[in-house]
Amino acid sequence: MGVEIITRRGAEQMDATAFRAVRAQYSSTLVDLGTGDGAWPRRFAREHPQLLAVGIDADRGSLREAARMAERKPARGGAPNALFVAATAESLPDELSGAADWLTIYFPWSALLALLLRGDPQVSEMLMHTAAARARLSIVLNAEAAPEGFDLPTPESLRRSLADPLDAAGFRITSCDWTSQPPPTTWSGRLVKGSGRQTIGLDALR
Ligand SMILES: C[S@@+](CC[C@H](N)C(=O)[O-])C[C@H]1O[C@@H](n2cnc3c(N)ncnc32)[C@H](O)[C@@H]1O
Repeated sequence: MGVEIITRRGAEQMDATAFRAVRAQYSSTLVDLGTGDGAWPRRFAREHPQLLAVGIDADRGSLREAARMAERKPARGGAPNALFVAATAESLPDELSGAADWLTIYFPWSALLALLLRGDPQVSEMLMHTAAARARLSIVLNAEAAPEGFDLPTPESLRRSLADPLDAAGFRITSCDWTSQPPPTTWSGRLVKGSGRQTIGLDALR
């Protein structure tokens, strides 16, 4: 099937060989799931030109904007080492297998947030599929919103929900607490900055 790469011109299929060749140019890979407008992977890619940053989202419109920004000249904020993939967390392309040295999930909502809050077995499938043998996982949630049918999360409830799926995928939780330093993403700026809203950060290692 291949990976659906979103560029500023639209969607392109990249086969497994081509995707491997791109990855082989870099020493390691950040995968940002639910990337939205891709500001975080683009920023990370600009700060680490020797690394590859892959932003994944189900929303192709947001990815198109992300690609448009990344494809600008580096002097104008572009990042040639950032790539944007259209996929859902529930059905990630085979080509991403073992790709993520660092997997970030920042301010997820809807289906992706529900998977995490429920501690759905699909979380471990997703991690087993995308994470490299030694990988880091970072999750940051808005603690003041939850999908219908869920209680607002706390560090304790998040740790409880994710303990089994993370353990099944070979991850050990190294920290899970309220955080006062949310990551530099667009939603972090919108939701948190100066608002006093509470956020929860979880880190885990494989
Ligand atoms: C609030 S936005 C956060 C975007 C970005 N991480 C940030 O912090 O600025 C949540 C994103 O999660 C994506 N998302 C929700 N459910 C998803 C799923 N099941 N698979 C992939 N992306 C999903 C949405 O499309 C949306 O772009």
